[in-house]
Amino acid sequence: MKIAIIGGGYVGLVSGACFAEFGVSVAVVEADAAKREMLLEGKIPIYEPGLDRLVADNVTAGRLAFPASLAEGIAEAEAVFIAVGTPARRGDGHADLTYVFAAVEQVVLTLDHPAIIVTKSTVPVGTGRKIAELAKKLRPDLPIEVAANPEFLREGSAITDFMRPDRVVVGTDSERAREVLRQLYRPLYLIEAPIVFTGLETAELIKYAANGYLAMKITFINEMADLCEKVGADVHDVARGIGLDGRIGRKFLHAGPGFGGSCFPKDTLALMRIAEEAGAPSRLIQSVVAVNDQRKDAMAGRVAAACGGEVRGLNIAVLGLAFKPETDDMREAPSLPLIHGLVSRGARITAFDPAAMAGAKPMLPPDVELARDAPQAVTGADVLVLITEWNEFRALAPAKLAGLMRGRVVVDLRNVFDPKAMREAGFAYHGIGRARQDATPVTKDSRN
Ligand SMILES: NC(=O)c1ccc[n+]([C@@H]2O[C@H](COP(=O)([O-])OP(=O)(O)OC[C@H]3O[C@@H](n4cnc5c(N)ncnc54)[C@H](O)[C@@H]3O)[C@@H](O)[C@H]2O)c1
Repeated sequence: MKIAIIGGGYVGLVSGACFAEFGVSVAVVEADAAKREMLLEGKIPIYEPGLDRLVADNVTAGRLAFPASLAEGIAEAEAVFIAVGTPARRGDGHADLTYVFAAVEQVVLTLDHPAIIVTKSTVPVGTGRKIAELAKKLRPDLPIEVAANPEFLREGSAITDFMRPDRVVVGTDSERAREVLRQLYRPLYLIEAPIVFTGLETAELIKYAANGYLAMKITFINEMADLCEKVGADVHDVARGIGLDGRIGRKFLHAGPGFGGSCFPKDTLALMRIAEEAGAPSRLIQSVVAVNDQRKDAMAGRVAAACGGEVRGLNIAVLGLAFKPETDDMREAPSLPLIHGLVSRGARITAFDPAAMAGAKPMLPPDVELARDAPQAVTGADVLVLITEWNEFRALAPAKLAGLMRGRVVVDLRNVFDPKAMREAGFAYHGIGRARQDATPVTKDSRN
């Protein structure tokens, strides 16, 4: 079977390489010439563990190609997947479907054979139906079917998520589309991954409902963390105590600085708008969006509070920039409001991230210094703020930090350090939702 994927970003590239690994012939059509050049040279424009190898193997095997023209890419393709971006539209939070409809129009006008258009992009309820109408209008001569196949992969573990998904969702009214997608995902039958077949609208809503629910779970534990700090409880233990209940589950109960990334922020906003417009507003999702926005904006103040209310003149080392570990994705990263907030309060920032520094640089205030590695970032720092839980940061020994830093304040926004070990090394340790928050030992003398 041959398929085409329009858009070679996180989702398009990972899906393309994984389908190729399943033995399908895949053409990934990427509009950005610079990205395409990189791909043709065997370089991967994004950081995703294992992807370079998977792409290289499948290109060598002749199953994965990056054609320059759309016509070449979709020639003989039984299914054309749309994997372009659907960012939040400025101003109103609706999903911006400009790229989706531009891609669909190009595909429909170029097709010379019947095909199935499959949305892998996250699209609002009703989009599949509109794509079908557009295809019929533009190409009444050609049978074009439509299916929604939302993607649930997580950046950082995208390949495993694609190859061993909890489920695959396919929404379509077309028996032919169902058959082609069933065939495409056949390798997953062996590992008994459930395939949920639904109508178009249902599949589209499943994606938003899943992300809305996960965002709500994170926001819930974040609020519990705030409560823990007030009442002398420990959010780690609260999360474990509730997460062991099978009805709740342990995942997504890690308190932190608020969610970011390429999906939750825009998808919760879009879900809020979809629900409002449908006349069934979701007050839960509205609250999730508002609470999370406030939380991200409040992190600079939290650091200031840990320093006795004032960060002016302090050297602050920020470890982590990407919105989560194992990715270089900076979209809506909580590090951005944190660093901008600290700089506007007069702090000097030295930051380090193992993968996201190039992408972060243009988004940061110009005087933020980027360090070569974590030890360099913390050298001479008065305060250490950890905001992305890369594994290499977990390994930083408190004694080593104490030897490199000038001050003794650690603000651990991901609860990765051992509070006891930190305190034994002489640090005032501030986690999230941990019962005991230290009084600050930063004195005016340590500022300059
Ligand atoms: N990133 C994730 O973890 C993730 C997970 C699940 C779902 N999604 C959804 O998948 C979709 C894509 O997300 P992403 O993170 O891969 O976006 P992305 O911005 O990384 O990639 C989109 C790519 O499409 C290309 N493109 C745009 N228009 C094109 C066209 N007409 N022809 C060819 N290429 C075109 C862009 O140049 C870009 O490289 C979004 O709807 C997103 O919500 C993303």
